[in-house]
Amino acid sequence: MSGEPPQFFSHLAAVRSAFRRNQKTGFRELFAADPQRADDFTVGCGHLFVDFSKQFVSRPLITELIAMANNRGIPALIASMMKGDVINDTEQRAVLHTALRDFSRQSPESQQASEALQKATTLATQLRNAHFTDVVNIGIGGSDLGPLMAYRALRRYQSGPHVHFVSNVDPVDLDAVLDTCDPSTTLFVVVSKTFTTAETMRNARRARNWLISAGIKNPEQHFVACTSETKVATQWGIDPLHILEFWPWVGGRFSLSSTAGFALMMGVGAENFTEMLKGMHAMDSQFAQTPLEQNLPVLHGLIAFMNASIAEYASVAVVPYNNDLSRFPAFLQQLIMESNGKSVMSDGSPTILPTAPVVWGESGTNGQHAFFQLLHQGTQVIPVDFIGVADTSGTDADAHDELVANLFAQSRALAFGRTREEVMSRGSSEELVPHRVFEGNRPSTTIMLTALEPQALGELIALYEHSTAVQGWMMGVNSFDQWGVELGKTLASEVLDTLQKGGGVSQFDASTNALLQWYLTHRHIDDM
Ligand code: F6P
Repeated sequence: MSGEPPQFFSHLAAVRSAFRRNQKTGFRELFAADPQRADDFTVGCGHLFVDFSKQFVSRPLITELIAMANNRGIPALIASMMKGDVINDTEQRAVLHTALRDFSRQSPESQQASEALQKATTLATQLRNAHFTDVVNIGIGGSDLGPLMAYRALRRYQSGPHVHFVSNVDPVDLDAVLDTCDPSTTLFVVVSKTFTTAETMRNARRARNWLISAGIKNPEQHFVACTSETKVATQWGIDPLHILEFWPWVGGRFSLSSTAGFALMMGVGAENFTEMLKGMHAMDSQFAQTPLEQNLPVLHGLIAFMNASIAEYASVAVVPYNNDLSRFPAFLQQLIMESNGKSVMSDGSPTILPTAPVVWGESGTNGQHAFFQLLHQGTQVIPVDFIGVADTSGTDADAHDELVANLFAQSRALAFGRTREEVMSRGSSEELVPHRVFEGNRPSTTIMLTALEPQALGELIALYEHSTAVQGWMMGVNSFDQWGVELGKTLASEVLDTLQKGGGVSQFDASTNALLQWYLTHRHIDDM
């Protein structure tokens, strides 16, 4: 039995029964019974407008969820995180990504961040004015997904060299990029908090060898490092003037607003990067200062927690109706699943509720022609986060209207479905009726941005960062460690040793031994 206080279970029971009641009532009736519903469950915040009305919420349920959040100590946890307490206790670290964009610069961390941002800004300006045509960001996980997602999202703000992103240890990832680059005008940005991540360091070595074999005399001038291990980066051969620091109190998946976002800054310029930070800071302020009832990240987090842990919906689809946000689902996969994919609570006891859902998704409308069949009529209910953008400037407004019409239509169809009578009234043949009925009652949240510009993007990112923290606190897990990635790394290095030092292939389990044996006999295709 867990050490949860008895009130936790009474709150849990109250939320569960309110949820079941709303689910049983269904969206048609929930909307019919309450003309205020759409207004009551939408929140405007900065450049965002968020509609939770197609979730199974009701006023009593939100009241219960807020009571549960208070009982969990959410207000104190938010304050504690932002003031720099060591809340990541398995790694003995503070969690202070909010200090990176705290322009009041009152804490020592935010002052450090300000100095690092200044150094990055100066270096980016200098290098953007140098001869570089291509920038290659080498990093993985949080050292790739955030900058890549934001660079794609801010496509219309690109003004500098072309930025590429290489993450995979699969050599073809780097090869494919290098094939398009000229060594004399290519800059590599090696992003690694630890500066030891195997994939990143191998790609960095391969990049350096590429420069050397092309006869580049000063390869170190083609590298920038973003890391918290500045000594290791210096030993690796990076010019200290090209080392941009971030700190152990910045988690990898929360590091986009640190110097880890340098490649993005190279692509869109320091001014746009700073605008994105301002948007994040605006959402941080909302998170820190707004009562829970109106606090957008808290509400988003509580509803996501309710769906994952109480309704036990095992996955959530994120569908941005904007092609420039196509990497946003991938960014959220790490943010949410690496943070909350845990089965022990902060105190080491087993979790009592399901934790992070599987996060997946694809841009609309592409997703409609791939997996929406299952979302509408499959046997599992999968909540959806729809993300849309209002601004049509700079693009074909008619086509954009068509895109947004699809977004709104999908959330309607999921919520309200189509009844047997409606199908019949459309003249369907009797035998096709069961195939044409949509049961509806499939929840979704819609997040609209005024425009896909740096501040709005910053708000959206920080919304999910804080929502993730809230979900973790409600689940009782430590959202800021990631021990679950360690075992695979260790085993990979053992297998690699065997492959490269020619060790026997009988030292592992029978399945791995057989795979290794097969691989060894087939890997040199030319020898076959
Ligand atoms: O996958 C584990 C992880 O530690 C992530 O949390 C992190 O974002 C990624 O590896 C890369 O780590 P680093 O920035 O230290 O190279």
